[in-house]
Amino acid sequence: MSFIDDLINPGIDAIFGIQDEYKKDNRSSKVNLTAGIYLDEDKRPPAVMEAIKLAEQKLNKEETTKNYLSIVGDSNYLQMTEKLVLGDVDSSRIVKIQTIGGTSALSTGFHFLKDNGYENVSLSDPTWANHKQIVAKQGYRVFTYPYFDSIKNFEIFVDHLNSLPKKTICLLQARCHNPTGIDFSKEQWKIISKICLEKNLFPFFDSAYQGFADSLEEDNWVIRYFFEQGHEMFVAHSYSKSFALYNERVGALFVCIKDPGLSEVVKRHISKIIRVNYSNPPSHGSSTIKYVLNDGSLYQIWIDELSKQRNRINDIRKRFADKIKPIFGKELKDQIMSGRGFFCMLPLTKEQIHRLKVEFGVYMTNSGRISLPGLTMDCIDYVVQSIEKVKG
Ligand code: LMR
Repeated sequence: MSFIDDLINPGIDAIFGIQDEYKKDNRSSKVNLTAGIYLDEDKRPPAVMEAIKLAEQKLNKEETTKNYLSIVGDSNYLQMTEKLVLGDVDSSRIVKIQTIGGTSALSTGFHFLKDNGYENVSLSDPTWANHKQIVAKQGYRVFTYPYFDSIKNFEIFVDHLNSLPKKTICLLQARCHNPTGIDFSKEQWKIISKICLEKNLFPFFDSAYQGFADSLEEDNWVIRYFFEQGHEMFVAHSYSKSFALYNERVGALFVCIKDPGLSEVVKRHISKIIRVNYSNPPSHGSSTIKYVLNDGSLYQIWIDELSKQRNRINDIRKRFADKIKPIFGKELKDQIMSGRGFFCMLPLTKEQIHRLKVEFGVYMTNSGRISLPGLTMDCIDYVVQSIEKVKG
């Protein structure tokens, strides 16, 4: 008899669990289309960016202490990140919190909102698997809307927004929607902003792919627009992809408020949440990024590397869309071409996805999401042929 006799097996993680299965596969032909990570043409895991290597050299020379950061993190890192994410804005309206990647920005933000009377969340269907877990863990009531249909017929989303109870949190992805790759247009965002203001809905932006659609400035247009419109809102930002700093876990939570006089009390509330969870954030990743953001030449090196990754992913997207057209038709090709960022989705059944894994060593998430950087020149035809075979 053990205290864990009744433990129910929760299953593997929808993304990293499948990637673990990929890692254990011994076939040399195996293909990793699981987690959103940048792989180079040799399928190597993301290289450390040159800008980061140079910044780390500086950091190693100049760092004099490994002392704790404050609970809310490094103020210069946060100031520079705020500028990158929100542009030149009235900083007194923004409470800035350093977080452990985008995930803890989301979970800390949702924790705070739950503590303060928010009960409902609106999520796209599909959305990033972890979004669902984060809000479920905190006991939110979830309202979903069909994402592909809403993009095609925006009225569906307008009706959804209009049907939500007051003070529902709308979790929205700034660009490169995960898992579909498809985003609302600027015109649609303007309507969404208006409805959120009129219906007292609370925007919570997830910004994990800044720089992977068009450019750093352009990709967070919607966040800047909402801020200008006077929304109170949250923004969760992740640097995992844009600096390829996946395992350093660097992110930020921005709480945009109307009354700067309340910023200290908000900061104290959030500090309480962080203090009992992880006490204070780690410093290596944020200190490294700080060097890049504060140094013109390192910044330029970073922008060039980021653009290279973006352009390569866009090339892969185009190549893949062309190749799957004979299997799925023009509509899907156009849909994939209209997307941006790491992901696209294929309308495959669970059984077909399982066969791709077991028979061909082609690993993707069970939703049919494909992480495009894994489709290197030497495996793209193999993947397309495997898909053709399981489609029958
Ligand atoms: C993904 O969606 O694959 C990435 O964001 C990795 C993760 O944390 O799930």
